[in-house]
Amino acid sequence: MEAVPLELEADADHAIVWRNDRLYLLDQRALPLRESYLELTGARETAAAIRAMVVRGAPAIGVTAAYGVVLAAGERFRRSPATWASDVEEEIALLAAARPTAVNLFWALARMRRVVRIAAGDPVPPLLAEARAIHQEDVAANRTMGEAGAELIEARTAVITHCNAGALATGGYGTALGVVRSAHRQGKIERVYADETRPWLQGSRLTAWELERDGIPVTLLADGAAAARLALGGIDWVIVGSDRIAANGDVANKIGTYSLAVAAKHHGVKVMVVAPTSTVDMATPDGARIPIEYRGADEVLNCAGNRVGAAGVEVWNPVFDVTPAALVDAIVTERGVVRLPTTEKMEKMMAG
Ligand code: MRU
Repeated sequence: MEAVPLELEADADHAIVWRNDRLYLLDQRALPLRESYLELTGARETAAAIRAMVVRGAPAIGVTAAYGVVLAAGERFRRSPATWASDVEEEIALLAAARPTAVNLFWALARMRRVVRIAAGDPVPPLLAEARAIHQEDVAANRTMGEAGAELIEARTAVITHCNAGALATGGYGTALGVVRSAHRQGKIERVYADETRPWLQGSRLTAWELERDGIPVTLLADGAAAARLALGGIDWVIVGSDRIAANGDVANKIGTYSLAVAAKHHGVKVMVVAPTSTVDMATPDGARIPIEYRGADEVLNCAGNRVGAAGVEVWNPVFDVTPAALVDAIVTERGVVRLPTTEKMEKMMAG
């Protein structure tokens, strides 16, 4: 992975760029201090970039993996036009192993695999068309969800969000932050409280960066301060994204979402989960069956490159948690809004 100056001012809506047969990713690990792109030429590098959090956020991971398949198929076809379609399965498996929780990754790879199976001749044009479609459909879904979610917000209010479910985490515009953007345009958002989101600090590094650039008032708070802020009032909605929504409406999202939802319930604040149907996994009946990613101890023992944990301590580092459907007031998808989710309501929405 090589950092390259791209003739493009770094911005959240262009975090994933396909240009001249290459994939460029805005290196989200370096934000907000440095805005630089990494150039990727193969699927192995793409999988490594996903694992290393160069790109993160469920829909963005799916879009990136789709472009990774394009890179892999091109290389395999050049090497062996007769066997490329079975050879490329190795890279698809590598991409699938990059991170376990966001179902968008597997959803996008399944779409790409369908094209691999029917491609005749050079597979790059049809695969690139499919990857671009996945990318553009995600942006369109976010815009639809932005409007639908904004409609749920009745009066001008402050809101609180966790992690980063913005343009950086998606094909563009954002899920939770898409709702914030649409609602802000309608004059409904007084201020966004952004949890800093330890250990990767997606809230302080990414959400605050995005909102600040859009001129949307943002206040950063330590994760542990959220309940105290909710208790003060003036916040009508918690708005978050998701990595996987089970058939019954249980929601996996960044670690800390569950405690935020519990605190919201206690204070009578409503919880809105905004996610495209590519995040809904009807094959997983409930949240207990969602695979949760655990990452290394170093992520908790260190903060911004500095050691903060006492030597010799053990670390528990699940990076997602499950918020039970009972704590969720609305799931907003591009196919519609599910209020107080149940399996029946989720089935109906998915069918529609
Ligand atoms: O570990 P991350 O940064 O990939 O986690 C991201 C989240 O938890 C987001 O809230 C989720 O993927 C939704 S992004 C639209």
